[in-house]
Amino acid sequence: MQERYTITAIVFHWLIAVLIVGAFIMGLVMTDIPGITPTKLKYYSWHKWAGVTVLALAALRLLWRLSHRAPPYPASMPAWQKGAAHGLHGMLYLLMFAVPLSGYLYTLSAGIPVVYFGLFELPVIMAADPELKPLLKGVHYWLNMGLAGAVGLHLAAALKHQFIDRDGVLKRMLP
Ligand code: HEM
Repeated sequence: MQERYTITAIVFHWLIAVLIVGAFIMGLVMTDIPGITPTKLKYYSWHKWAGVTVLALAALRLLWRLSHRAPPYPASMPAWQKGAAHGLHGMLYLLMFAVPLSGYLYTLSAGIPVVYFGLFELPVIMAADPELKPLLKGVHYWLNMGLAGAVGLHLAAALKHQFIDRDGVLKRMLP
């Protein structure tokens, strides 16, 4: 019987996964709406709130992870696969921060403050900057494409473990 992830790790994993997928889809949908409409503005707000929540949860998750080890990989897994899994997990942690942070900075560069759930304004850590704005927009877009690629690989690996290797690795992250 394999060692499982703890309930804390499982809650962090799936909560962040749902918020990232939701923010990603919302990002594509909202930027596709022509002109400026109340619906578009509402979607932009929801997108930003979901993204900022990902950033906050990612920080908590990283702090938690640094003091708790992950269960070891099955002995049957070749060393290169363990290395690849480790590298991809590191990349996912990095993108969990870089993607929302780039969106946050892009919004500030446009001179728009982020008011979390309409309740309080988040720190304005950067002044409006019309020159940086198009650059940060591109950075947010391409980091998102990188994130989509990394999540795709992560998903493919999980399915390979489940249906080809049949080594119970996916079950360790299921409630
Ligand atoms: C996990 C977090 C996030 C994900 C997955 C995500 C994803 C995306 C995606 C896929 C787009 C569409 C890009 C395009 O087609 O041009 C987008 C656009 C955008 N995002 Fe994010 N985002 C996240 C966090 C944030 C945060 C925290 C903010 C700001 C507080 C933000 C602000 C924006 C804005 C303003 C746009 C519109 C860009 C434009 O005007 O073309 N995002 N995001």
